[in-house]
Amino acid sequence: MMDFNNKSIFITGGTGSFGKQFVSYLLATYSPKKIIIYSRDELKQFEMQQRFSEPCMRYFIGDVRDNERLKIAMKDVDYVVHAAALKQVPAAEYNPNECIKTNINGAQNVIDAAITNNVSRVIALSTDKAANPVNLYGATKLASDKLFVAANNISGATGPRFSVVRYGNVVGSRGSVVPFYRQLLNEGKTRLPVTHPEMTRFWITLDEGVQFVVKNFSRMQGGEIFVPKIPSIRITDLVEAMSGSREYDEIGIRPGEKLHEVMVPEEMAHHTLEFEDHYVIVPAITFFDKDLDYTQNRAGEVGTPVADKFEYHSGTNPQFLTIEELRVLDKATS
Ligand SMILES: NC(=O)c1ccc[n+]([C@@H]2O[C@H](COP(=O)([O-])OP(=O)(O)OC[C@H]3O[C@@H](n4cnc5c(N)ncnc54)[C@H](OP(=O)(O)O)[C@@H]3O)[C@@H](O)[C@H]2O)c1
Repeated sequence: MMDFNNKSIFITGGTGSFGKQFVSYLLATYSPKKIIIYSRDELKQFEMQQRFSEPCMRYFIGDVRDNERLKIAMKDVDYVVHAAALKQVPAAEYNPNECIKTNINGAQNVIDAAITNNVSRVIALSTDKAANPVNLYGATKLASDKLFVAANNISGATGPRFSVVRYGNVVGSRGSVVPFYRQLLNEGKTRLPVTHPEMTRFWITLDEGVQFVVKNFSRMQGGEIFVPKIPSIRITDLVEAMSGSREYDEIGIRPGEKLHEVMVPEEMAHHTLEFEDHYVIVPAITFFDKDLDYTQNRAGEVGTPVADKFEYHSGTNPQFLTIEELRVLDKATS
């Protein structure tokens, strides 16, 4: 397991759902030298300071679009988690260039600042929407994934190592379906809206997401896209778990929305390894070290190539949560 004791950890988008849970875990488990939160909005930082005011906490106002600010802010940092993003699908469709500036240009700025400051390891958070993207949000995250994978080439043999963690819907995160449904139920609604009754999604809790990122810091050699094995849900099961009824209002698929999500597309099967609890998509192009063997990670775990035509797809996932399991999860995150 990674040792974050006496280390400086830099989190872009540290005031978001992931950032707060990650900080909570770091403070409960280690004695970091510094935890630096880097984000734009002073109110979110002020509120976070009420909860996390330990002496190692630092709150920096800054934008990932601001190259110079990032370079100064990342001084003497050991590890970076890049969580800052614009992530609302409709907002990205409506303001495409804003999404490109934050999610793509911002990613390159994080890479440049990490290389300038010679940080040790960087993990960028990605999403299932980046696999075979159909909306701009997913497309920007795919471009960001490509930048982080290729950054290992620029950083050379002794520079920072960059990897990506890709996962699906985080239960209860800001702006997601569970808090939306909860709000409607609190307002007295009895029938919840469903875009399409056959819709499925990958499902991960915030804590599982944090644990997966932490583990990958000790697994990473640079260039991997780490994908956890997680369950899927049927949206109609979620409706029943939360409202107690299978009645819903069908409102139609929204622009840029898929019926199912994919985390490893079939076209990437020949670049994918299966480990016990996760998959790794290895770089299609060999970068800094031609002898790098991804079948054994730095933590000593061994992976094997997946079958031809393998696809990790939320609709064909062998593991689905039951309505009862969804009910328990809903209670635990409310
Ligand atoms: N939530 C999910 O279901 C999910 C699923 C898969 C992957 N992910 C990925 O996980 C990451 C974290 O998601 P999350 O749920 O924690 O998001 P979140 O709660 O919306 O937090 C996003 C954070 O990014 C910051 N931010 C936005 N634009 C910024 C900019 N230009 N410069 C600096 N900071 C900026 C925000 O703070 P300010 O507004 O104050 O700047 C906020 O702290 C994202 O990369 C997302 O794509 C999320």
